[in-house]
Amino acid sequence: MAPVASLFSLYLVILFISYLSNNSVECVRTKKKIYLDLVTQNACFRVLNATHQVGCSSKSGGNVGVLHYLEGQDDYDWVLKDGPHTPYVVLINSEDFHREKVQQLFKSGRVNGILVVNVLNNSTLTPLPPNGFSADKDCPNDNYGAYYKNDSYKHCKSVKWNKPGEALYFNDYHDFPMFAISNISDLNILIDQCYRPFNQPGNGVAKTYPICAVELSDSMDAAKDSITCIRRSELITNLNPTKYCDAMGDKNIISTIKAIPQNVPRPAKSVIVVATRMDSISMFGYEYQNSDTTVTGIVALLAAAQALKQVKDDLRAATSDLMFTFFQGEAFDYIGSSRMVYDMELNHFPYDITDNSSLQLQNIHLNHISHFIELSQLGHRDQDQLWIHSDPISKEIPAISDEVKKLIDIIKPIGEKLNVSLGETAADQPLPPASVQRFLRKMAIPSIVITDHQKQYTNKYYNSRFDLPRNINADYPPTLNDTEKYDYITEQAVSLTNIATTLARFLYKQTTGKQLTPDLENKIQADEKEIAHLLYCFLESPVCELFKQSVSPEDNKNLASAKKPFPFYVGVDYQTNQITRLAHSILAQYLGDRMVNITKEADCKQPDNDKRYKYLWMQGSLKPGTTDTREGWCIKSTAMLHKAKSPAFDIDDYDWLSGEYSTWTESTWTVTKVRAFLIPSESQEVLTLCVGLALFIVSLGIVYFFNASSDIIFLSTNTASDTPPS
Ligand SMILES: *[C@@H]1O[C@H](CO)[C@@H](O)[C@H](O)[C@H]1NC(C)=O
Ligand SMILES: *[C@@H]1O[C@H](CO)[C@@H](O)[C@H](O)[C@H]1NC(C)=O
Ligand SMILES: *[C@@H]1O[C@H](CO)[C@@H](O)[C@H](O)[C@H]1NC(C)=O
Ligand SMILES: *[C@@H]1O[C@H](CO)[C@@H](O)[C@H](O)[C@H]1NC(C)=O
Ligand SMILES: *[C@@H]1O[C@H](CO)[C@@H](O)[C@H](O)[C@H]1NC(C)=O
Ligand SMILES: *[C@@H]1O[C@H](CO)[C@@H](O)[C@H](O)[C@H]1NC(C)=O
Ligand SMILES: *[C@@H]1O[C@H](CO)[C@@H](O)[C@H](O)[C@H]1NC(C)=O
Ligand SMILES: *[C@@H]1O[C@H](CO)[C@@H](O)[C@H](O)[C@H]1NC(C)=O
Ligand SMILES: *[C@@H]1O[C@H](CO)[C@@H](O)[C@H](O)[C@H]1NC(C)=O
Repeated sequence: MAPVASLFSLYLVILFISYLSNNSVECVRTKKKIYLDLVTQNACFRVLNATHQVGCSSKSGGNVGVLHYLEGQDDYDWVLKDGPHTPYVVLINSEDFHREKVQQLFKSGRVNGILVVNVLNNSTLTPLPPNGFSADKDCPNDNYGAYYKNDSYKHCKSVKWNKPGEALYFNDYHDFPMFAISNISDLNILIDQCYRPFNQPGNGVAKTYPICAVELSDSMDAAKDSITCIRRSELITNLNPTKYCDAMGDKNIISTIKAIPQNVPRPAKSVIVVATRMDSISMFGYEYQNSDTTVTGIVALLAAAQALKQVKDDLRAATSDLMFTFFQGEAFDYIGSSRMVYDMELNHFPYDITDNSSLQLQNIHLNHISHFIELSQLGHRDQDQLWIHSDPISKEIPAISDEVKKLIDIIKPIGEKLNVSLGETAADQPLPPASVQRFLRKMAIPSIVITDHQKQYTNKYYNSRFDLPRNINADYPPTLNDTEKYDYITEQAVSLTNIATTLARFLYKQTTGKQLTPDLENKIQADEKEIAHLLYCFLESPVCELFKQSVSPEDNKNLASAKKPFPFYVGVDYQTNQITRLAHSILAQYLGDRMVNITKEADCKQPDNDKRYKYLWMQGSLKPGTTDTREGWCIKSTAMLHKAKSPAFDIDDYDWLSGEYSTWTESTWTVTKVRAFLIPSESQEVLTLCVGLALFIVSLGIVYFFNASSDIIFLSTNTASDTPPS
């Protein structure tokens, strides 16, 4: 065989191969055309503690299944028993999304993932489960509270606080992704463009191909538990910095009224702590509607701070100091409060004083705390009352019990005057889950926790995506536009105004020891309009005037592009949440002073000799006569951020299994994605294969033919080409 002939046949083979590969590129292109990508990013993701992994993860390439919408019992039978096109991915109505059903689907081996209808602004599409829903445990944070060692109280033996809690969040759904479908156009794609036309069985008979499948991807990098994950992350760091998980955490917000410098001793039992918590959990990312769970407490505490603005000088002159505190990460075994206690014990709170060349805030130690007032859920009423809880174990000490009684005797009549009726729980009833429990683990402190429930939570949707403004009368008439909503006084705003006023007057009296005269009562009054604004900004939209004023110029971009309320999930430690920075900035405005003669960001900074105050630069209000130029405010205050990271991650050779501190980490991941596409029929696939094979055989034949007759064909061509043109 002539060499030229074999070259030519090689050329043919290359042509054929490139044809084939072109063809497959073509295939991919066609595939792309029929993929429908959904916008949803609301994935259930994996978090880990020292012993377990919980949450969800898909397989590394994503999970694929034929979409089936579970509308009635027939559909469950179809998916779990009869349907021929396994595995399925199911679309489930929100009222069916609870532990029993989810476990049934997960364990069936016939289902590859779950999508949950979650269009929260439409009660027809997403009705609220009438008996409540909470993905948290029925006894939240149990092992990390004050009663972990007490046989009569631990594991909620005397009160089951969160009755609807099914701990769905704390289950491990391995290779089983779940997403919430919160966008109506996503839902329409799934139901109207995928399920109904291609999959919905007619009279118990499966549809023929093509059928519509869904691919869910949220493959998690971390596995097993936090210990394993951190070890793996550290192992690889030297060569190739791969992280598999990050410690959870954020920042606590604190502000003392006085600014005692380090060279002035702080008297024992001279700090009143008034606190609430910032964060919540939810099964699905970006779905943190925690209206009652935390927002009522946050707003009441901020508003009380504002109500005390006019009497600041009195408070600063008092012997006692008052510390406003917002804890972060409490939903994950009390991250923020346990960190504060840890730092106080080490004399590192609010920070470590390393030199005396400038004034710094005097440390606060556990011994300095005289009283602890905590606000919890406040949006509902139980028997028309709010309830004061206190700790039975520390009250066994008569001095503590006397102080608790005094606190209650002061606050009750103040509340009564303001239509805030406060009941007392039974003397032997333990505290509900609360940050103060972390302090009580270390020492007995007179403390009260104010909530909207006497025993079990009145909030049926604690720590869940259903904890909506409408459940606490903080929603708006549908006809209002955004400007009107911002100023609209909801029933909840009225009720929180009374609570904040009660709290502020009580704090004033407790801190200064002075009687409340009518003149003082006039001055100490929460601002209903401001409370309406706070509720709007936290629950409806962060793109609101109060947040715009309070944000730093750098953060303004995030704010302007925000489409829904900022999430209340604590997140990972290396980032500070936007909601934390905003609450910090608002607290600073309420308790601090505006430096009116500072008009440039560069001038808004701490003097070198006095580090007790922080200087925060924020956008401020619009300049008169403009619509987009803001004047810029410099606020001087003691408000600051304090590390809310579990000490477990900072203590060398910490015993991870000791159960002392939170060990929660969040897995890293690269993509969360849901898309729908059509699967062609098997016969069509076989046909494609046959045509391909036939083509291959034919071309082999051609190659053989060319090879065999190459002498004849190519000799002449060769001769021809060798002959110079005449
Ligand atoms: C809610 O969804 C249902 C079903 O799609 C629809 O009929 C109804 O008009 C929607 N309601 C609102 C207020 O959007
Ligand atoms: C509320 O839901 C409807 C569909 O029920 C949707 O068309 C509308 O855009 C949603 N509104 C908001 C503010 O999300
Ligand atoms: C980790 O979480 C699981 C599930 O909630 C729980 O059973 C276990 O006790 C936790 N481990 C630690 C060390 O807290
Ligand atoms: C829903 O998704 C579409 C894109 O598919 C987007 O245009 C729309 O703004 C989204 N709606 C909401 C309420 O987020
Ligand atoms: C700073 O001064 C205080 C009291 O004046 C003293 O107790 C402390 O040791 C000093 N700290 C340092 C780092 O010098
Ligand atoms: C548990 O609490 C009860 C009631 O306050 C108390 O009498 C008992 O001493 C406590 N038990 C332990 C082990 O702390
Ligand atoms: C007092 O509060 C109750 C509900 O807590 C409310 O129904 C009532 O109208 C309020 N009364 C006044 C005078 O505000
Ligand atoms: C909302 O309505 C009011 C009139 O009630 C009007 O003055 C205002 O400009 C409207 N705002 C927006 C954003 O449309
Ligand atoms: C602003 O005014 C205060 C007194 O009111 C003064 O101490 C301070 O130096 C002034 N700052 C600037 C930047 O002018």
